[in-house]
Amino acid sequence: THIDKGGHKHFMAKEIAEQPTVLGEALSYYLTDAGIALPEPGLDFTKFDRLTMVACGTAFYACLTAKYWFEQIARLPVEVDIASEFRYREPPIPARTLALFVSQSGETADTLAALRYCEDKAMIASVVNVPESSIARASDIALPILAGAEIGVASTKAFTCQLTVLFLLALKAGLDRGTLTPEEASEHLAQLKALPGLFNAALAASPEIEATAQKLAEARDILFLGRGPLYPLAMEGALKLKEISYIHAEGYASGELKHGPIALIDQHTPVVFMAPSDGLFDKTVSNMQEVMARAGKVVLVTDARGAKAAAEGTWRQIILPEVSPALAPILYALPAQLLAYHTAVAKGTDVDQPRNLAKSVTVE
Ligand code: G6P
Repeated sequence: THIDKGGHKHFMAKEIAEQPTVLGEALSYYLTDAGIALPEPGLDFTKFDRLTMVACGTAFYACLTAKYWFEQIARLPVEVDIASEFRYREPPIPARTLALFVSQSGETADTLAALRYCEDKAMIASVVNVPESSIARASDIALPILAGAEIGVASTKAFTCQLTVLFLLALKAGLDRGTLTPEEASEHLAQLKALPGLFNAALAASPEIEATAQKLAEARDILFLGRGPLYPLAMEGALKLKEISYIHAEGYASGELKHGPIALIDQHTPVVFMAPSDGLFDKTVSNMQEVMARAGKVVLVTDARGAKAAAEGTWRQIILPEVSPALAPILYALPAQLLAYHTAVAKGTDVDQPRNLAKSVTVE
């Protein structure tokens, strides 16, 4: 079937804009009147003491985000690794391990090799966008993300759909393991169902994001910082930006600022803070002040409450709707994607086909 840009300038813009729709589709696939329904043969988390997640690129950052959820919601110990490291390390796989592979294409060579290593050692699950892919076929259970075809090399809607499916799995794990009550699960699900609407509301920040990107296009280095589940998102924001704008960017945990990246701060270095007004907000604000005290230019991505408390002295503010702390990394993916997109457009790079990159890396 022929896929066009649907009136957008790039596939990436179209795929970013599709997120409210595809997130809704993923939710309606997994949510029934009886609760969270997984495809056959299902997953019973009482059978596992440990979760190992393996992926590459953007899918790896989805795994790192999900680690926060599985640990907090299901109290399940989680290990996350990059497939190219995992496959040659010969890691021990204890009994009662669930091995979970996340891949948009389902064809990434390193991820498939890591899966093969786990065969006969663990139950194998995968979170994939292409149901007939090699990784899906080699899994005991394949969980579709239902993002639809993704053409832009830089992954966008697949990332937020991966996160949505992983969040549902963490809820299922919490229910199975008795660490989450049905009432708490219902509350999380209500928030999750509101997410497509929040994505639409967040698009109101687009003009400010675009104006910020015009400025970022002049930078040589950009830092992305976040705490808790926003830390993996900071790394994903940096990855998106470097992939398509070719500007050097690094994602760091806000609390690590003092252990290295602070040496890079001067008046030429924009620092993007992914900072919803959650329980760790005050800590992040003090990191922001450390940056501003060194003349760093702070781009504060937050909600109205966070902006009211901490916008003073920041260079730019991007204001998003309020979202539950657990789901913030999904919503905050949108400004990360749009910042990268508009920066690349301002620089005139090939957004959908960035140099040296491939959509799916099927050779080692
Ligand atoms: C390539 C793509 C990335 C993607 C990564 C993993 O590097 O350019 O966008 O995140 O592969 O791909 P997968 O299909 O396994 O998710």
